[in-house]
Amino acid sequence: SRLASSATDGGTERVLGAKKELESLLASALAAAFPSEGDEAQWGRDVLVAPTANPKFACDYQCNNAMPLFAKVKGREGGPGNPRAVAEAIMASIPPNEILEDVSVAGPGFLNLRLKDAFLERRVGTLFAGEAAVDAWAPEPCCARAVLDFSSPNVAKEMHVGHLRSTIIGDTLARALEFTGVEVKRLNHVGDWGTQFGMLIQHMEEEGVPFDASVGDLQQLYKDSKARFDAEGDFKKRAQQAVVKLQSGSEESLGRWGKICDASRKEFNKIYDRLDIEIEERGESFYNPLLKDLVEELRGSGVAELSDGAICIFVGGSEAPPLIIQKSDGGFGYATTDLAALRQRLTDESADWIIYVTDSGQSQHFKGVFSAARKCGWITDEASSYPKVDHVGFGLVLGEDGKRLRTRSGDVIKLADLLDEAVSRCKEQLVQREYEFAEDEEKLEEIAQQMGYSAIKYADLKQNKSSNYEFSFDRMLDLKGNTAVYLQYAHARVCSILSKARVANPGSDAGDASKIRVTCEPERALLSTICQFPEAVESTVEDLAPNRLCDYLYGLTSKFTDFYSECKVIGSEEEASRILMCEATLKVMRKCFAILGMEPLERI
Ligand code: ARG
Repeated sequence: SRLASSATDGGTERVLGAKKELESLLASALAAAFPSEGDEAQWGRDVLVAPTANPKFACDYQCNNAMPLFAKVKGREGGPGNPRAVAEAIMASIPPNEILEDVSVAGPGFLNLRLKDAFLERRVGTLFAGEAAVDAWAPEPCCARAVLDFSSPNVAKEMHVGHLRSTIIGDTLARALEFTGVEVKRLNHVGDWGTQFGMLIQHMEEEGVPFDASVGDLQQLYKDSKARFDAEGDFKKRAQQAVVKLQSGSEESLGRWGKICDASRKEFNKIYDRLDIEIEERGESFYNPLLKDLVEELRGSGVAELSDGAICIFVGGSEAPPLIIQKSDGGFGYATTDLAALRQRLTDESADWIIYVTDSGQSQHFKGVFSAARKCGWITDEASSYPKVDHVGFGLVLGEDGKRLRTRSGDVIKLADLLDEAVSRCKEQLVQREYEFAEDEEKLEEIAQQMGYSAIKYADLKQNKSSNYEFSFDRMLDLKGNTAVYLQYAHARVCSILSKARVANPGSDAGDASKIRVTCEPERALLSTICQFPEAVESTVEDLAPNRLCDYLYGLTSKFTDFYSECKVIGSEEEASRILMCEATLKVMRKCFAILGMEPLERI
C-alpha cells in the first residue's frame, strides 16, 4: 500500500520513517472528517508530525500544527467549535491501520500519537533482511546529480581551519546525499590561478629558489613577493611581464606553476588521506579557458554591461553591488571563474543541485554569483525547483580566548599539528584508562588516530553550522559529553555485548527478526528511536545540516545506554529479542558513523 513503503530502484522496498506514514494517516482522517475543507492531498501538505523527546507524553510523535489546522476548521460556520471536538472528530476518522496504538489530545490541541509495539517490532525487523538492509531505510533521493564544491584551499598557502570545516561538512553532506541515492561529484575548487602566480614565479626565479619548495616556504615566498611588488617599481614591471608570460601559456612558466601546485597538492592530500576524504581536484585554472568567451557572450546578450571601464552584471537593483566579471585592466576575477564554473556544472556535469561549502564570509559573493546566474536564466528563482544552488556558510572556529584559533605564540595553527595533537591526547587518554593494547605501539597509534580524527570531525559537525564555535580538545575528548569519544565507547560496548552473546550462545538463531518483542519502556524507546533514522537523514539533507544527524546519533546512543543499564541482555528470558535490539542499534549507529565519516571502533 502507499502507506507501507515505496519501491526503490533496486527492487528492494524502501522503508519510510514513521513520520511520513503518520502524516498520511492524519491527512486521510482530516479529509474524511472535514471533506469541505480540503482533500487528502491538501491536508497532506499541511499536516506535520514530529517525534517527541519528552517521555511524559507517552507517545512517539506529536502533531504540532494541529492548532492552526483546527483554527481553520473552527473559523468556518458550523465547524465543531472547540479544539477537543475537532481532535475527536479526527480521531474517529482515522482509517483502520497497523501503525497507531493510540491517539490522544494534549493541551489545547496537540495530538499525541503512540505507535503500536507490533509496528515498531516489524519495522526494526526489516533491518535483518540481508546485510545491506539498512540501505533501504534511506529517504528518497531529492534529485539525480549533485555537485558539492568543498574544501577548496589555495595553492602556495597553508590550508587553514576554515578549509578544515569546509572539508568536514562538505564530506558529510556528500556522504548523506550518496546514501539517499544521489550521484555526487565532489569538487575541490582549489585557488590555483591568478596574477599572484606570475609574481611568485618571478620572485622565486630571482631568488634562485627551487620551484618545488614546501608549502611553508611558499607561503613566506608569496608574502615576500607581494611586499616587493608593492614596494619595488622595477620588480613590479618584471612581475607583470611574468604574469603575461604565464597567461599566454609559456611552457616554461606553466612548468614552474605546475611545480608550485604539486607542492601544495602534496600537503593537501596528506590531510585528505588522514581524514579519509575523497575529492576531485578541479581548481580555478580549469575554468580559465572559458572566461573570455563567457564575458563576451554575456555582454552580447546584454546581461552584462560596461560600467566605469569594468564589465559588470547588475543584480538586484541599486542596493546590491554589481558582480564584476572583467576588471578595467582586462583581468578576470574570482566571481568570473565561479560564474563559468556554475554553468559548466549545470551543462557538462548535468548537476541538478550545486552546493558550495565555505565560511559565511563569502555569503555576499555567492549571493552575487547566484543572482547573476538567475539573470542569465540558468537557474530559476524558486528555491524548490531544480536545477538549484545553495551556499552552506559556516561560522568561525575560535580558540578558548574567544578569538580566532591561534597557537600560544599567536601563529596560525597548522592543520597537521591540530590533528597530531588530537591523536596524542587520545593516546594519553587510552593509556590512562588502561587500554588493553596500550603496550602495542602500532595498535595504540591506530586506535588513537581513529578516535582523534572522529573527535575533531564530530565536534565540528554537531555545531549549528552557522554559529562560531570554540575549539577545545578537553571538551571534544570528554568521555561523558556529546562527543565522538562517548559515541565510540558506546559503539564498542554494543560490539562487546554481541560478541559475548555469540560466545555464550554459539549457533543460536538470534538472527530471526520475528523474535523482537517489546516488553518494557526502555526497549520501546530504543526501537522507536531506531525507527526515526530515515527522518534524521532526510532533515540533514533537506537543511544541509549535519548537526541533525549528530543529534540523532547522540539521542540513539543515550536510548541505548538507558536500555542497557535497565535491561539484562545475556542470560535473560528476553535474550534473543534483546540481542536483536542490540544488533539493530549497531546497524543504524554504524550507518550514522559512516555518513559522519567516523571510523567505528570495536574494542577500546
Ligand atoms: N579558495 C577559496 C578560499 O579559500 C574557496 C573556494 C570556494 N569555492 C568556490 N567555488 N568559490 O576562500
